[in-house]
Amino acid sequence: MEQSRFRYGSAKPKKNPRQMGPIKLPKENKMNRRSFLLLSAGLTSLAVAAPSWAQELPKLKQKDKYKVGFAQTESNNPWRIAQTESMKAQAQKEGWQLVYTDAAGSAAKQVADVNSMIAQGVDLIFLAPREEKPLIPAVMNAKKAGIPVILLDRSVDPNLAKPGVDYVTFIGSDFVQEGKRAAEALDKAVGGKAKIIQLEGTTGSSPANDRAKGFKEYIKDHPDMQIVASQSGDFVRDKGRQVAETLLQAHPDATAIYAHNDEMAIGAIAAVEAAGKKPGKDIIIVSIDGERDALRAVADGKMLATVECNPKFGPKAFETAKRYAMGEKIEPWVINPDRFFDASNAKDMIADSY
Ligand code: AHR
Repeated sequence: MEQSRFRYGSAKPKKNPRQMGPIKLPKENKMNRRSFLLLSAGLTSLAVAAPSWAQELPKLKQKDKYKVGFAQTESNNPWRIAQTESMKAQAQKEGWQLVYTDAAGSAAKQVADVNSMIAQGVDLIFLAPREEKPLIPAVMNAKKAGIPVILLDRSVDPNLAKPGVDYVTFIGSDFVQEGKRAAEALDKAVGGKAKIIQLEGTTGSSPANDRAKGFKEYIKDHPDMQIVASQSGDFVRDKGRQVAETLLQAHPDATAIYAHNDEMAIGAIAAVEAAGKKPGKDIIIVSIDGERDALRAVADGKMLATVECNPKFGPKAFETAKRYAMGEKIEPWVINPDRFFDASNAKDMIADSY
C-alpha cells in the first residue's frame, strides 16, 4: 500500500542543552570553577526558555490506570458516533478514566477543549483534529505542558508539527489511497468516461485534502474522466444534498458523483432523485466510509461502492498508548487498513455496520 500522507521535513530538532550530558573541560582549558558554574547556569536557563521545537516529546509514565482525554470534532454523523462509542468502550474495558469533549464542529472550541484537558492534568490526549492548521496550537500546548498527544483519524499539517517530535503518532487510514480506490472503482464502472461532481469534506481537514488528492492523481491518467464541479459539503448529509442539487442544476451533463464521505453521498442520492434522475444509472455515485445507510444504498444499486474508513479506533488507540508507556518506539503512522464494499459484498456487511 502506498503510504502517502507524511511529508517529513528534514529539519531535526536542535539538541536541548538538558540532553547534552556533563560538560567536560579539556585539560588545557584555563576556565576556573566560577566561570564554569556561570556557563552551566546560562545553559540551564537556556534550557528552561527552550522553544517547543527544542523540547523532547513528552513521555508517558508506566502506571496501571490512566486518565486520558479524547477530543472529538463533532457528533453529527454515524461515523463520529461509532468512533466515540469505540473509545468509550475501550476506556471502560481498560478501567481508565476518559475525559471526553465534543467540539461541535468548531476548531476553536477543540483547541479550548484540549487546553481544558491540560488544566485537568490528563496523562495523555487522543485528538481527532478537525482541521490541519487550526489544531496546531492544541498539539503544541499539550507538548509544552508535558502531555503526549496521539492523533486519531485525522492529522495536522505535517510542515508545522511532526510525529515523534511534537506528537507521538497518527493512527488512521491512508486517505490518498482511499481517493485513488474510489476513482479506480468509478473508472471500471464507466469505462474511463465520466463528468464528475466532487462533494468535498470539511475544508482544511486532512481527509478532504487527501481524498481529493488521491482521486485527482488517479484521473490525471484518464483524460475522459473530468471533475466538472467541486464544492464542500462539510461531510454533512444535508449540506451534501444541497450542494449536489445546486451542482446538478449547473451541470446537467454530469454523469457521476464522488463524495468524500457516505453522509454526503446519501444526501446526493436524494438530490439526484429530486432532479428526476436515477442514482446508480443516470448518475453513478461512489464514496468513502462504509456506514450502514451507504451499504444499503450499494446493495440497492443506488450507489456503486464505498471505500471503507474504519471508525473503530478504541483498541488500537489504547494499545498504542500502552506501547508508548513501555518505552517502545512508535512508528510515525499507525495505519488502519481499509476494506472495500460494492455489490459483491455490501449486503452481507450491513448487519455488522454502524
Ligand atoms: O476523518 C474521517 C472522516 O470524518 C470520515 O470519513 C467522515 O465521515 C468523518 O466526519
